[in-house]
Amino acid sequence: MTEQQLVDLLQSMTLEEKIGQLTQLDGSCFSGEGPVTGPEQELGIPKEKFLLAGSILGVTGADKIEQIRRICIEAQPHHIPPIFMADVINGYQTILPIPLALGCTFEEEAAKKTGDIMAREAAADGLDITFAPMVDLVKDARWGRVMESTGESVYLNSRMAAAMVEGIQGESEDFSGHLGACTKHFAAYGAPMAGREYCAVELSERSLREEYLPSYQAAIHAGSAMMMTSFNTLDRIPVTGNEKIMRGILRDEMGFQGVLISDWNAIGELILNHVAEDKKEAARQAVVAGVDIDMMSGCYMSRMEELVREGTVEEGLIDESVLRILKLKNRLGLFERPNRAEKLPEYGVALLSEENRKVAREIAAKTMVLLKNEENFLPLKREEDVALIGPYMEEKGILGAWSFFGDREKSITILEGVRSKNPSAHAKSGCGILNPGQTVYGFKFHETNEMTEEETERSIQEAAEYAAAHKKVVLALGESPLQTGEGGSRADITIPDVQKKLLDAVYAVNQNLAVIVFAGRPLDIRAIKEKAKSILYVWMPGTEGGNAIADILYGDRVPEAKLSMSLPYCVGQCPVCHNEFWTGRHVEDGENITNRFQSKYQDIPNAPLYPFGYGLSYTDFTYSDVELDRAEIHEGEELEAAVVVENTGAVTGKEVVQLYLTDEYASVARPIRELKGYQKICLAPGEKKKVVFKISMDMLCFYDRKMEYRAEPGSFIVRIGTDSVNGKEARFWLRK
Ligand code: BGC
Repeated sequence: MTEQQLVDLLQSMTLEEKIGQLTQLDGSCFSGEGPVTGPEQELGIPKEKFLLAGSILGVTGADKIEQIRRICIEAQPHHIPPIFMADVINGYQTILPIPLALGCTFEEEAAKKTGDIMAREAAADGLDITFAPMVDLVKDARWGRVMESTGESVYLNSRMAAAMVEGIQGESEDFSGHLGACTKHFAAYGAPMAGREYCAVELSERSLREEYLPSYQAAIHAGSAMMMTSFNTLDRIPVTGNEKIMRGILRDEMGFQGVLISDWNAIGELILNHVAEDKKEAARQAVVAGVDIDMMSGCYMSRMEELVREGTVEEGLIDESVLRILKLKNRLGLFERPNRAEKLPEYGVALLSEENRKVAREIAAKTMVLLKNEENFLPLKREEDVALIGPYMEEKGILGAWSFFGDREKSITILEGVRSKNPSAHAKSGCGILNPGQTVYGFKFHETNEMTEEETERSIQEAAEYAAAHKKVVLALGESPLQTGEGGSRADITIPDVQKKLLDAVYAVNQNLAVIVFAGRPLDIRAIKEKAKSILYVWMPGTEGGNAIADILYGDRVPEAKLSMSLPYCVGQCPVCHNEFWTGRHVEDGENITNRFQSKYQDIPNAPLYPFGYGLSYTDFTYSDVELDRAEIHEGEELEAAVVVENTGAVTGKEVVQLYLTDEYASVARPIRELKGYQKICLAPGEKKKVVFKISMDMLCFYDRKMEYRAEPGSFIVRIGTDSVNGKEARFWLRK
């Protein structure tokens, strides 16, 4: 349709119909035959009105979607097709690694491919939009949703955000064969106080603008069709009802022109946040703030008509939102072809195809961080006598907390992966993932360990005997996926106690030990670090996890991942990150401290157990000194910083060469170091490569004392190295 036709359509719609377009309902409100009884009370909407909903979430399966689509189109006076949306986060049926793991690739191509595969599969099954990517910056490992982000660096997050949007949306204007992206959660949802889910966010405006907004901005630049509001308050105001944030920052400053949707019942929660007394006031605040679609609170559909009729809300605001939604439907091509999936056979998309599995396996291997490898314990040789032990050895639930549509039965366990290389391999679980009797609640199911204490004791004993009878042990441990994700905040970020017992029992009889860690967050793994010769941190690796792990264990793939989030020493350090600030009492760990009054803990180091950007390979890389093409630049100029990296080991490997900047003196406190560039290179044994970074003015800018975004003259340190701690330095000056 032309823009004029969309405007004409809008003008011919009743207010009730328009408000319908602003309403999103969950699949539970519909059956194939029509609206269902049940949710109307909670939503405050008569069930007949459900059919006016402009979009529907959480329904999957082309046939089911088609049925609901048909009854909605039929019932709508103008037969406007609904949009179908769902949470396809790290895969639809082929599940790829969780986003935090994806961050560890430092490779946009991997993010793009992930977005591409998940979007193509979901589109083939009838969906139009995914609620992804989540680009919230995260620093606090206690928060369960760190798994959905690409980590703690604004720079890395921004690059990955753009790549994910590009992958999800594909090349064509109408997202053909792909999905529209709904970037979330605007804004700063990733900084809940104390890492507790849904908690208030208290950030300075400087921090919000410098660290938190750029990844959303990158997603907008990449063309994200939609954006989702966040649940949290920011500066004491719930974001979903904050006009300054939504209309002021998101639309006017950041230039977002797409559709803005609330998070689930976030408009209704304005009441629970105690800023609105009832649904009517909540609806008013949200629409004034600029929220186009109300996801599942019913506030718009139940109260908006009254607000408009009495003149509290101008109909113009409603029209603005409806037009944006109609434009999105038009862009998706829904007016011509309400069922986008129909067209898909021509794209030849197959769900969970061998080809997608192959890519999933490759990407999974790229996300696994080798944290320790004493005596080159890994890789294993095929003929080596190894005991495979641990509750994750034969576990299929390795898809991550947000993989509702993937079938865990289709995933490859470690044992299966190892058997493809060594057919006689066996495994013993030793214990359950959770403690005996422990239950963790999930969305659709909950996970319980029904093993008794006695059974567990026996099983650990057996595992220890098995360990004692072999030369080497590989132990697969970790938290449960349901201990992560939404509602997955934890105050104890270690592995469950029963697994600690297993670790101790195995270590007591065999110290030739490698540990594979499954996690949705940076865990406190001090106990593992103490005992294991080798540690491979595999996150939640997805459908092909077991194959990818086996590839790394046996050296068919060389580890190349780097931590996208610092691994804290212990929970008491959280949040901990690479770009902390100078204090007036800064000390480095290990410094000889004679004064009590320093910025330090009495009982733990300041530094994380493993820093951001850290990760080993099966080969070694050495770095030359940093060479600058000039030592001074003026406003608007650039300089080049280069290092020569050499592979001094015996196998070909990939290295993420990282660039960090320090602004030595400025009008406001600046981070001690900040990631500002990276390049991933591949080197054969003995090969050297010169890696050149351009340092441009935008890399030196920050919000100064007057909140002006600019670079201040003075000296800067550029450090290029293998992680956020180790590197070679040089100094340059920005002159007036
Ligand atoms: C989450 C969103 C998600 C939505 C719809 C909410 O609880 O915060 O990230 O997209 O549910 O499932």
